[in-house]
Amino acid sequence: MEATAHSISNDTLEKIASEVIECPLCKLSRIRKNAVPGEGQISAKVIFIGEAPGKNEDEKGRPFVGVAGRIFDVALQKAGIERSQVFITNIIKCRPPGNRVPEDDERTACRPYLDRQISLIAPRIICLLGATAYSSILGRKSIKENRGKIIKRNGQEYFITIHPAAAIYNKNLLHVLEEDLSNLSKKIRKMENPERNSLLDYMDGQNDRISC
Ligand code: URA
Repeated sequence: MEATAHSISNDTLEKIASEVIECPLCKLSRIRKNAVPGEGQISAKVIFIGEAPGKNEDEKGRPFVGVAGRIFDVALQKAGIERSQVFITNIIKCRPPGNRVPEDDERTACRPYLDRQISLIAPRIICLLGATAYSSILGRKSIKENRGKIIKRNGQEYFITIHPAAAIYNKNLLHVLEEDLSNLSKKIRKMENPERNSLLDYMDGQNDRISC
């Protein structure tokens, strides 16, 4: 088999998933119904990273299958992004009690699973959904300054948007999520067809790209 970014190591998404399902590394492992490793394609150009499984995800063992998941699915669909073609996961893979924000020790214990998923898939863009993903991955607190933008860090591009659950109680945020995912979709298409970019397209992209 030809060596690709996806086949250089012996690691596989299935191996990571089976380790996550059995994981004993933090206190959440003792109260979960199901761990939620994430799902999607090894060939995905985009990885979406949320915060943590909620009640529905804990029951089903799949990411974004509750109310926030339905909002996310509609936004993906409107943006022309096929859920089955991307990879969707979370900062931590087990549900925190009462859906509280993941604690530092939980984020630290889970991080190697996420890092392995990212390095196997080698996505063009990682989309960070909300403040927990943003702060865990990029070490910054408020997503306000960079929402809707691409941040480049160590050769990896990150697109920042809100968490779909934020739109449950604030319907105005539905449009923000949908517009952001639609812009993300355009950026992915541009990356796939760079020769078709006009100078104007290029300049448009530069306005919202920053390095840090
Ligand atoms: N919220 C998340 O952050 N992730 C899920 O999988 C579901 C809800």
